[in-house]
Amino acid sequence: MSIQEAYDRWSNTYDTDINLTRDLDRLVTENTLSNLKFRSILELGCGTGKNTLLLSKIAQTVHAMDFSASMIEKAQKKLKSTDNVTFSSSNITEPWDCRDRSIDLVVCNLVLEHIENLSSIFFEAYRCLVESGKFFICELHPFRQYQGTKANFYTETEKVEIPAFVHHISDFFEAGKSCGFTFKEFKEWWHPQDQNKVPRLVSFVFEK
Ligand SMILES: C[S@@+](CC[C@H](N)C(=O)[O-])C[C@H]1O[C@@H](n2cnc3c(N)ncnc32)[C@H](O)[C@@H]1O
Repeated sequence: MSIQEAYDRWSNTYDTDINLTRDLDRLVTENTLSNLKFRSILELGCGTGKNTLLLSKIAQTVHAMDFSASMIEKAQKKLKSTDNVTFSSSNITEPWDCRDRSIDLVVCNLVLEHIENLSSIFFEAYRCLVESGKFFICELHPFRQYQGTKANFYTETEKVEIPAFVHHISDFFEAGKSCGFTFKEFKEWWHPQDQNKVPRLVSFVFEK
């Protein structure tokens, strides 16, 4: 099953499944961003809009991209009473429909495990960001990937594991540096139920 097809299928239960990674990611995003203010935010792989509502409260405008029409449909329903969020159905591995130096913050949560070439994403983020603009990333920790964990969900008959690429911590730093970013913050995160386990999530803030 392709990544896009898998997310189309997962969209109906993504918000209601038991999913500690999704829940922790929301907390990480709130913890990192909720006290900040931005003019414009670009969200990559917005999914059902789990984090988009928070982003709409801390920015004048948010543009959210995803290549799953079903995921975007859920996000649009969730955000229907906001007037500062737009959506586009786009594949983020292709050049983004976004002007150079027009965005204050690029946000990417739980998406990059599905992207083979990190550099293309960092390149586009750098192009679209204003000077001193920030790139916030929160992803499944590679330690979990080394143990075989991938984004997954259950249908009535089977467990579906979504195709994923392993990105080492150094790959993120290398991709950021090679595009011209300065590194600002790196954190590792555990859910309260993760005691004595490897970190579940990793987050980065890069600055242009
Ligand atoms: C695990 S979900 C995360 C959704 C949301 N960011 C969140 O934290 O809940 C990953 C999302 O990335 C999207 N995605 C994966 N690869 C993509 C690509 N190449 N272009 C656009 N969206 C993509 C999927 O459709 C899905 O909605």
